[in-house]
Amino acid sequence: MARLSVNVDHVATVRQARLASEPDPVLAALMAELAGADGITVHLREDRRHIQDRDLQILRRTVKTRLNLEMASIKEMLDISFEVKPDMVTLVPEKRQELTTEGGLDVKTHFEGLKKFAASLKDASIPVNLFIDPLPDSVKMAHRIGSDGVEIHTGRYAAAAAGRERESELKRIQDCALLARRLNLRVHAGHGLDYRNVKAIAGIKEIEEFAIGFSIIARSVYVGIEEAVRERTRLVG
Ligand code: PXP
Repeated sequence: MARLSVNVDHVATVRQARLASEPDPVLAALMAELAGADGITVHLREDRRHIQDRDLQILRRTVKTRLNLEMASIKEMLDISFEVKPDMVTLVPEKRQELTTEGGLDVKTHFEGLKKFAASLKDASIPVNLFIDPLPDSVKMAHRIGSDGVEIHTGRYAAAAAGRERESELKRIQDCALLARRLNLRVHAGHGLDYRNVKAIAGIKEIEEFAIGFSIIARSVYVGIEEAVRERTRLVG
């Protein structure tokens, strides 16, 4: 059964819209765990547009499952991860103008930098995943970089029109998941997955964990966070 890590960034997005103290992503994370989430994911962005340092610090003390910190490979974030010691780090590319992470890391261009960065995290006993597009070369480079695993970007699959286009995106993800497993990399996947498109991808048995945020938080506006998480754990399991 695949695990579900619930990304609570968008609870913080609502809070930051009014610079208020509610809704609190910390409380949302605890409720997601109560409903069966296997982990909690947060992305501490350089511009702090949603998750704040305070959230990360409290989550470190309260999350009972596994805390996954998504972050850019910059010195500021490295220092924060050393201090907070999340259960794992997922390195992502980050652009200030984007609405959300738009693609996987350019592992070829940043090969040496990522290698050093991953080594520093591993020296601090923090496991590291690289967020990559479903390309065999990126999987192989993630392996050469020394990453513990990959998170395969499912955004293009999620955005593809149903039919041939979506089937071909699914196949790309499937092939990369298989390759990553063969290279002994941990295989996670995420981005853009919702209550409909997650089913086919949940059939890829090499994927151990899904990181899902926006659609769960959006649904929880209607049904509450616990019900939204419960429905989703059934779909990925
Ligand atoms: N994985 C990564 C690396 C991400 O950047 C995000 C978005 O923060 C997610 C997963 C979750 O994507 P979504 O919010 O579309 O479910």
